[in-house]
Amino acid sequence: MSTSPTIMIRGIAVFKAYLSPAQQVTLLEEARAVQRQAPLFSPTTAGGKPMSVRMTSAGKYGWVSDTGGYRYDQRHPGGMAWPAIPPLALGIWKDLAAAAPAPECCLINYYGKDARMGMHQDRDEADFRWPVVSISLGDDATFRVGREERGGPTESLVLSSGDVLVMGEKARLVYHGIDRIRFGTSKLLKNGGRLNLTLRVVT
Ligand code: SIN
Ligand code: MN
Repeated sequence: MSTSPTIMIRGIAVFKAYLSPAQQVTLLEEARAVQRQAPLFSPTTAGGKPMSVRMTSAGKYGWVSDTGGYRYDQRHPGGMAWPAIPPLALGIWKDLAAAAPAPECCLINYYGKDARMGMHQDRDEADFRWPVVSISLGDDATFRVGREERGGPTESLVLSSGDVLVMGEKARLVYHGIDRIRFGTSKLLKNGGRLNLTLRVVT
C-alpha cells in the first residue's frame, strides 16, 4: 500500500486513519501477545522519577530507562529476550519506510488516564538516516511538536486510533511529546487508555 500523508507538521508526515478498524483490532491483539511474554513495566527516569507511561518492547532491542540511564537493551528488565515485532507493524514499516533496513525495536507505550510524555528527542539510535514510525491505538492524545532545539514555539495535533506518523529526514530529531490523552474517547482498549508503538532501526 502506498499513500500520501494527510498533513505534514514540522516535517512529520501524518497519515490519519491509516489503519482500518479491523487492522487496529489485529494490531492490538499482536501488541497484547507481546505484553503477555514481556509485560509492561514502569520505567523511571535516569534521575529516579517514575514515568507515567508503562512500556515494553518487541524486536532485537528494547528501550529501557532506569537509574542506569536510557538505553537499548537486548533483554526485558525481567531477564527475557524481547518477543518478535508484531507482523502488522512490520507491514506498516515496509509501506512507509521502504528505503530503510528492517526495524530492530518496536517500543510499546501504554498511557493510562493521567499519563503523558514530556518533550524529548529520539536520539538513542546510531543512525538518524532512518525514520521513526509511530502508530497510535486507543484513546485520542494531544501530540506536541517543537523544533530540533529545545524550547521555542510548538504546534500540536490530536492523534487518534489508527493514525500513523513518520518522523524522518528533517523531522527525525524534532522535540515531541504527549500532553495528555482524552481518556475514554475510543472503545478499542477494553479498559481505556492509549497504546503507541514506535518502530526504529537501533544500530
Ligand atoms: C514517543 O515519543 O515515544 C511516544 C509518542 C506517542 O506516544 O505518540
Ligand atoms: Mn519519542
